[in-house]
Amino acid sequence: MSPIISVSNLSKTYGSGFKALKGINLDIVKGEIFALLGPNGAGKTTLISIICGIANPSEGRVSIGGHDIIADYRAARSMIGLVPQELHTDAFETVWATVSFSRGLFGKPKNPDHIEKVLKDLSLWDKKDNKIITLSGGMKRRVMIAKALSHEPQILFLDEPTAGVDVELRKGMWEVVRTLQASGVTIILTTHYIEEAEEMADRIGVINKGEIILIEDKATLMQKLGKKELTLQLQNKLDAIPAALAAYNLELSDDGHAVTYDYDTKGDRTGITSLLNDLRNAGVRISDLDTRQSSLEDIFVSLVRAP
Ligand SMILES: Nc1ncnc2c1ncn2[C@@H]1O[C@H](COP(=O)(O)OP(=O)(O)O)[C@@H](O)[C@H]1O
Ligand SMILES: [Mg+2]
Repeated sequence: MSPIISVSNLSKTYGSGFKALKGINLDIVKGEIFALLGPNGAGKTTLISIICGIANPSEGRVSIGGHDIIADYRAARSMIGLVPQELHTDAFETVWATVSFSRGLFGKPKNPDHIEKVLKDLSLWDKKDNKIITLSGGMKRRVMIAKALSHEPQILFLDEPTAGVDVELRKGMWEVVRTLQASGVTIILTTHYIEEAEEMADRIGVINKGEIILIEDKATLMQKLGKKELTLQLQNKLDAIPAALAAYNLELSDDGHAVTYDYDTKGDRTGITSLLNDLRNAGVRISDLDTRQSSLEDIFVSLVRAP
């Protein structure tokens, strides 16, 4: 299936000479929730701004549903809803008026049924006649999402939807995002919260210093996370893993002086006790052992620290 968004070789150098994006390649699949995870200043907002046509790329191309964002700007932009990082709403308008007005900005004919559906999906229907200034912070954020959905985009960008938001509101936001995905919207969100990427995303991309350093299905990433690695230093060099130990899928180090064993910390049993027994029975003597576990946090920290 062809991607709904295709970013190729995208770079951005700001007027100051600062290179905020360096050769980004990224495909977004229709219907997925993609989390772009990265520390502050990594380039998340810059990337989103270019995809949404708010900033110009210095190099590279972006196409949305096959429409080039520069050559075919209007068609590309109409497929996208954007909830920016900085929230600003017209305080004295009603919810209904501000959301309806946003739709008009895209030149779409009025469609009260659609606005009603959006407000209901976001649990804002009973607030439709309230002035925005009277709403709580969480509701204001939902109004911003409603505005972004007013013109029936197929793709929704949420730039740091829960930054500075308390835990309860964050969970509410996650619910909203899932509801939107179920209604067929493709969602790209940025976050600097690892937990949020873990919780929400089908796929996670890690960005640091203007480069995407990892893109992986969350399920694959999580499998790696549940895994621990046991390394056994051997007293004597092994040329090959003894056949009696084949079931453990051990990996022999290049120098033949260590074997590593992967096990699942979430499983019922690790298999370590029987491994040690079977090693002894096979005449393999151990001089030392060591375990390590990689979490998304570890992976993230080591990736963003790498020079
Ligand atoms: N208009 C601008 N002019 C110059 N530098 C900018 C501008 N906007 C952002 N930057 C710089 O580009 C880098 C990436 O910023 P941004 O995309 O906002 O990161 P993020 O959203 O991941 O926090 C930062 O170092 C930021 O200071
Ligand atoms: Mg940002």
